[in-house]
Amino acid sequence: MKNNLTEIVTYYKGCGAPSDQSALLACLREAQDACGGILDAAAQQEIGEILGVKPSYLQAVTKRISDLKLSGAAHTLTVCTGVNCSRRGAEIRRYLEKELGAQSGKTFLNGRWMYLTAGCQRACRTSPNVRIDGQLVTGITLNTLKKRLFQT
Ligand code: FES
Repeated sequence: MKNNLTEIVTYYKGCGAPSDQSALLACLREAQDACGGILDAAAQQEIGEILGVKPSYLQAVTKRISDLKLSGAAHTLTVCTGVNCSRRGAEIRRYLEKELGAQSGKTFLNGRWMYLTAGCQRACRTSPNVRIDGQLVTGITLNTLKKRLFQT
C-alpha cells in the first residue's frame, strides 16, 4: 500500500501536481482508491511530504471536492471561520469545540462527523454559515445544528 501510494503521488508530481489542480485532484482520487477509500491523516502526511505541501493544504482542497474523503465519518461539518460568521456564530463554535471537543481535521461524536473549518464562504449576509456534507447551510442556529448533528 505505502509503496503504491508513493508511486501514485510521485507519478502525479511529475504531471504537475500540486500546482496543476487537475493533476492534484487526479492524484488525490487515485491515492484515495489505493488507501481503501479514505485519505486519512497518515496518507495526507505522506502525500504532503512527496508533493511538498502541508496536510492542511490538502485538507483545504479535499473538503471542497465531495468525492474525496478525509475520514470514515459518515458526514462532514465545515464551519466558516470568516469574520462575520465568527462573530455571529461564536456560540456554535464554542459548542462544537468546548462542549463536544471537536477539533478541526478530526472526527467527533464517536467518529460519525468530520469537523473542518474554512475561510469566508462568500455568503456573509446570511451568517453564520456552515457546510454539511458540502452543502451550504445559511443562518444556522445552535438548535438547528444540534438537530442536524444528532438526527443526521
Ligand atoms: S464570514 Fe462566513 S460567509 Fe463570509
